[in-house]
This record gives sequence, structure tokens and C-alpha cells, in this order.
Amino acid sequence: YFVVGLTLLVSYLLGCFNGSVVTSHFIIRDDVRKHGSGNAGLTNFYRTYGAKYALIVIFCDMGKTVLSCLIGGYLMLCTNGGWTLGVLLGGIGCELGHMFPAYYGLKGGKGILSGGVLVWMLDWRMGLIAWGLFVLLWLLTRYVSLGSIAATASMPVSAFFVFHHDPLLTLLSAVVAALVIYCHRENIHRLLHGTEHKFRWHVNPIN
Ligand code: G3P
Repeated sequence: YFVVGLTLLVSYLLGCFNGSVVTSHFIIRDDVRKHGSGNAGLTNFYRTYGAKYALIVIFCDMGKTVLSCLIGGYLMLCTNGGWTLGVLLGGIGCELGHMFPAYYGLKGGKGILSGGVLVWMLDWRMGLIAWGLFVLLWLLTRYVSLGSIAATASMPVSAFFVFHHDPLLTLLSAVVAALVIYCHRENIHRLLHGTEHKFRWHVNPIN
């Protein structure tokens, strides 16, 4: 239990380091959460500032997730808790930090970039299904949120088939999906009312 707690704490603190908030604050001297959907995530960052600085956000948010998953994996491996369980716990801690960062008044992102890294770190088949669904729905509808929701919802289903011998891993994958879908509640409302933002390749960055 100590290692589980330590994994969650370390990965939560890493997850709190939000690439969109940090880049908009320190480099652009603005707050991404004041624009567009108000979300501190890659989609809203790109929507607001364009592609120029989005690479920094991708690097930060993907990097912190890889690090959290590796720390979780190694900590659990050292205590015979299982690599995959550690990766999943590290990913959940990172997602929680990213979504509800203590440093930024609990107002963070929706955990899609983190979830997208986590799913690959769990199993390549799960990654392929989730990313396949995401890309397909995003390109067909131009709703990033719809692709994100469907991709995340696939996680517990694919986890069930990949980890059928381990119900805990399926359950924890469902926790990730539930967290991400909860963070997309406003997007779901907008999707149902036809008012969701459509992705555009060409934006007019405000900075
Ligand atoms: O990255 C999160 C995405 O699914 C939706 O973001 O800004 O359109 O609410 P946004």
C-alpha cells in the first residue's frame, strides 16, 4: 500500500505540471484557460495560439506521462506488484494531477494526451484501438472531443480482452475512462446540442 500511495503521489505531482498552463504563462505571458473552451489542454492551446508552441505542450504532457508510468512500473516491479499495474497507477496519478492540479486551483485539462500515452504504455493493441478510433472520428467529424471520448471509452473494453486474467487492470482502466468522460461533460452537452467546436487546421493565433 505504501508503494501504491507513493506511486500515486509522485505521479500526481508530475501530472500537476500542465504543459498548456506553463507554456501560456511563462512563454506567451497569457492564460490558455481564458480562451476558447477554457480547457488547459493541447486542443484548446492549438485553437488559441496555433501550432508554433503546441510542440512544447506535447513534449511536456507526453513526457510527464511517460515518466509517471515508468516510475509507477519500476516502483511496483521492485515490490513484486507487477509492471502493468504500476504503469496504470502512475498513469492514473498523472491524469488526476493533469485534470485537478493543486498548483493551479484544480483547473487543469481533460487528460487526452496523457491518456493517449498511457494506453500505448499499457499495451500496443489497446493503443492501436484507442488511437485508431480517435483518428477516425476526429477526421470524419472534426470533433476532437468525440474522438477523445470514444477512444477513452474503448480502454476498459480492450483491457478486458487484453488483461482478461486480471480484473483489477480492467477496473482501473475503467477508472481512467470515467475520469476522462467526466471531464468532457461540457463537450458532451455541446455535442448533443450541435454547438461543439470543430477542429480547424488553420487558426489565427492570438500571439
Ligand atoms: O483535449 C481535450 C479534447 O477532447 C477537447 O478539448 O478544448 O475542445 O474542450 P476542448
